[in-house]
Amino acid sequence: MILILVGYMGSGKSSVGKSLSKILGYDFIDLDAYIEENLQMTISEIFESKGEIFFRKQESSCLKDVLEKQKTVVALGGGTPCYGNNLNILKEADASKIIYLKSSIQNLADRLYSEKSKRPLISHLHSKTELIEFIGKHLFERAPFYEQSDITIKIDTFTIDQIVESILLELF
Ligand code: S3P
Repeated sequence: MILILVGYMGSGKSSVGKSLSKILGYDFIDLDAYIEENLQMTISEIFESKGEIFFRKQESSCLKDVLEKQKTVVALGGGTPCYGNNLNILKEADASKIIYLKSSIQNLADRLYSEKSKRPLISHLHSKTELIEFIGKHLFERAPFYEQSDITIKIDTFTIDQIVESILLELF
């Protein structure tokens, strides 16, 4: 079984993924960290020196690598299911479940505001209002991809432990 966490930047995919993998005794892979390790560059450096198209190609090929694993929880990047053929690849992966961590625009903006410098797609936005406006438009484009997940978990008012518990209830 491979469990795949999708959702917008800042939706807690990595924290929830780590905790879920511990409880299940599964391995955990963060796709962004996997790409960074492969290329020995941070995500920001990749975007800056090689550009987004190069990043998306790496993301797609690393995704195929990690889907070969078993008993693994994978946290994808916010854009992973929305590019190329990635969503189909995810849906066709053997014994996999795609889990969408769904959050409101306001909650995402609150979480992302202090860490936007690490995220090249939003690092140029200065005010919270600009960030809210950007997330609103971006999420509108991306939601149709996220919504095709097998399981959707609303995360806004919940702790990591509560989110993990909801996922386990849906799964088993
Ligand atoms: C991206 C999300 C990031 C990272 C890259 C692009 C996106 O991952 O893959 O900066 O397109 O939403 P997180 O969702 O882990 O921040």
